[in-house]
Amino acid sequence: MRSHYCGDINSSDIGSNIEISGWVHKRRDHGGVIFLDIRDLHGIVQVVFNPDLKEIFDTADSCRSEYVVNITGLVRKRIEGAINPKMATGEIEIEANGLTIFSSAVTPQFPLDDYQDVNEDVRLKHRFLDLRRPDVNQRLVKRSQITSKIRSILENNNFHEVETPILTRATPEGARDYLVPSRVHPGEFFALPQSPQLFKQLLMIGGLDKYYQIAKCFRDEDLRADRQPEFTQVDIEASFVSTEEIIELGEHLITSLLSDFTDYQKAEVPRITYKESIEKYGCDKPDLRIPLELNEISELVKDEEFKVFSGPANDHASRVVALKVPEAASMTRKKIDEYTDYVGKLGAKGLAYIKVVDLDQENGLQSPILKFFQKETIDSILDSLNVQNNDIIFFGAGKADTVNLSMSSLIKRLGEDLSLMNSSWAPCWIVDFPMFERNKENNLTSLHHPFTLPAVTIDELRNAPDNSLACAYDFVLNGYELGGGSLRVYEPSMQKEIFSILGISSDEAKEKFGFLLSALSSGCPPHGGIAFGLDRIVMLLSDTTNIRDVIAFPKTQSASCLLTNAPGMVSDDQLDELNVKSTFEPEQ
Ligand code: AMO
Ligand code: AMP
Repeated sequence: MRSHYCGDINSSDIGSNIEISGWVHKRRDHGGVIFLDIRDLHGIVQVVFNPDLKEIFDTADSCRSEYVVNITGLVRKRIEGAINPKMATGEIEIEANGLTIFSSAVTPQFPLDDYQDVNEDVRLKHRFLDLRRPDVNQRLVKRSQITSKIRSILENNNFHEVETPILTRATPEGARDYLVPSRVHPGEFFALPQSPQLFKQLLMIGGLDKYYQIAKCFRDEDLRADRQPEFTQVDIEASFVSTEEIIELGEHLITSLLSDFTDYQKAEVPRITYKESIEKYGCDKPDLRIPLELNEISELVKDEEFKVFSGPANDHASRVVALKVPEAASMTRKKIDEYTDYVGKLGAKGLAYIKVVDLDQENGLQSPILKFFQKETIDSILDSLNVQNNDIIFFGAGKADTVNLSMSSLIKRLGEDLSLMNSSWAPCWIVDFPMFERNKENNLTSLHHPFTLPAVTIDELRNAPDNSLACAYDFVLNGYELGGGSLRVYEPSMQKEIFSILGISSDEAKEKFGFLLSALSSGCPPHGGIAFGLDRIVMLLSDTTNIRDVIAFPKTQSASCLLTNAPGMVSDDQLDELNVKSTFEPEQ
């Protein structure tokens, strides 16, 4: 039904008879001549209908936006003055000699011919229309190209793609499970995989040696702009490998994509320890494009009267940090108040600041907190930060978690507001993660997952779980966690120890992970791997910060599909058959 895609026709086709198929993008009637702009995946071309071919002309006249048509015609050069340099096909047009309407169309729910910023909910409800917009469909085309490149790199490195089950048992990655009731086993449920973690380990125990999968994962967790309940991982696992080998492979994979799809120049990716990252950036996914760092000043303020600072400075679970922002002392009070509100929403009790107006003047510093400090303390803070005239310094004091969250968020906000990004691409590895962290109830939980190999002996782990590091690594790009992985536990005794530290009794471990423990006892190779978030990779390579932009049929922030209205109610009969009773009572 076509000899050419609309967007591909150019001057070299002048004089050729061609056939195109696509949608009517725009219809114009110019003094007895009808112009139809026809659109397909590759672009738009202008077609001219003359009244001398009456039947075709009348059909063209009846066409409306989004009708689906087939056209034959002769490519000709546009007359001088009609050339449109903004259009890829702007030098030529098609003189139609045939027109068939395949489908008519109702008036579209939002216009596609003129670019308009349409509300996202409306776009998602009519995604089939939204997909016709080049900025949406070209991202999906790019996604396909990226996936294909990933497959070819992994295949070239002798990785084999293996599919793992979707109906399975819970695979703990820290989120809630999506559950599926079993009809044939009344009262029992499958869980959708949060990742293929345990299956890929079982594949290594099964001798597959090098596995990968473009794998669907499901997590019922709070959604954000870079999170979906259903997303795709590039999941990788290999046997007899070191951390170094996995890092090398992961780095090769992502930097190859970056240099193929962007202007990124390949360079060695820096590695930062988790501890250093938290100290310097307040988080484990720093945006290294922003040249701002936190400086610990607890030592300098611990003997001061000002309790807001000296309190946290003397508490081991707290910190006091200074954040120097060069050349920003002219920031308005209103802006500072805005940042204070911003960190306040993240739990900070305030946002002290010092504006360095002129270091040589007696009153050259402006700040509401100067009066609380001895002059020597202020001098030593300024010295330690190596401040210059026109800098502003922000301070965060309080519980380490709150300071880290609020000040790392402030760094990202300042980076955007003040356009501080000094490069387009700043990848890094975060390494030397702790094995565990403490939750609100002060219980130990895995920082990665319970199958991560500790970097310490079993005795060291048992005696000092809080201080034990893991053989784990994350790949971070421009402040986004793109991927994470680890070497895995391959001895049953170590795995049992970790379960026990996590408060999982041996009965529970047997019930939930008996198959893993039994597999580990059957001759398990040392192994390790990593998983990258495919959606996040495509998102960053497509210059968007909204993960929904790179998923054909995404869910909303409240985990629903506006197009199909999923999730939906099911009939009582269906529930009965599944032995499930809903306790939900809709509001009257
Ligand atoms: P992790 O939980 O870190 O590791 O996930 C790996 C990567 O998957 C992406 N990701 C998500 N993307 C979109 N929406 C989500 N809700 C979401 N959650 C995670 C991120 C993340 O870096 N089994 C381990 C990997 C391993 O150890 O090999 C795992 O799943 O980009
Ligand atoms: P206050 O004594 O609470 O009025 O605070 C004096 C100054 O310290 C104000 O500029 C506050 O914004 C700031 N401030 C208060 N609490 C904190 C905190 N936890 N971290 C940083 N600055 C703070």
